[in-house]
Amino acid sequence: MAKNLVFYFSGTGNSLHMAKTIAQTLGDTELFPLPAALRGRRPSEAAYERVGFVFPVYFWGMPNLVSRFLAQAELPRADYLFAAVNYGGLPGNCLGQLKRALVARGLPLHAAFSLKMPGNYLAAYNVFKNSERSAIAAQAKIERIAELILQKQPKNPPPLGFLFPSFSSSRAALPKKDELFEVSAACTGCGSCAALCPVQNIEPNEEGKPRFLHRCEQCMACAQSCPALAIGFRGARRAERRYKHPGVSWAELRAANRD
Ligand SMILES: Cc1cc2nc3c(=O)[nH]c(=O)nc-3n(C[C@H](O)[C@H](O)[C@H](O)COP(=O)(O)O)c2cc1C
Ligand code: SF4
Ligand code: SF4
Repeated sequence: MAKNLVFYFSGTGNSLHMAKTIAQTLGDTELFPLPAALRGRRPSEAAYERVGFVFPVYFWGMPNLVSRFLAQAELPRADYLFAAVNYGGLPGNCLGQLKRALVARGLPLHAAFSLKMPGNYLAAYNVFKNSERSAIAAQAKIERIAELILQKQPKNPPPLGFLFPSFSSSRAALPKKDELFEVSAACTGCGSCAALCPVQNIEPNEEGKPRFLHRCEQCMACAQSCPALAIGFRGARRAERRYKHPGVSWAELRAANRD
């Protein structure tokens, strides 16, 4: 019987690494992938001491998959509800959006944390040279956040709602943004991108190459993990290297997304 539960979603491992560090600090914690929760898998207990949400910021808000989960899912009871989100540049009002979604379900958000991690959005920029190094450098900050969660410290989201437009139209457009993916001749048809996709948005075409089904989360797992660097974006310079958090493996992410 675990005392704590951490729901997480991660395309390239930053959030998974954060969730794992928090779980390690708390001890006795069930780590629960949100894609599996949306496919109907349920946490093992009806009530926990602490329940948390760990995920990346998308367009200054929550990934669509997280919004769907918070709107639909049956949530276990908790003494302390927390969120720890991570972002590449600016978190916008993601934590405020999360708090509103919980309040709409009659639930409080006791503590809201955010942390800068390497950006992974290949559609907008290439992998930065020092991404892996800055991921490792963020570890001390993750551990500090985890300690505060262990102590059940309260922390309000910053009152930024009035400063940031919600970008909700950009998030609404994400499912069809896979139309911008371009698969190069380097693709070997290995199928590893399809195996990593958290929402089964990829199926092989006649040549075994990926075909995208327009229910994309834009999590970047497929493009960042492709061993042949074959997935690029129309209009973007083809990236020469790819990123995942050095503390997690693609196999762990595959298990998290397809479990
Ligand atoms: C579709 C998409 C939108 C993003 N939007 C933002 C954003 O609005 N602000 C920001 O600072 N980072 C943004 N990022 C960067 C991610 O939040 C950041 O790289 C995060 O740490 C990735 O976590 P993960 O490795 O767990 O997937 C975006 C990334 C993606 C893929
Ligand atoms: S991971 Fe890359 S090489 Fe493998 S099927 Fe997907 S696009 Fe092709
Ligand atoms: S198609 Fe690629 S970017 Fe879209 S949800 Fe699947 S793995 Fe993520």
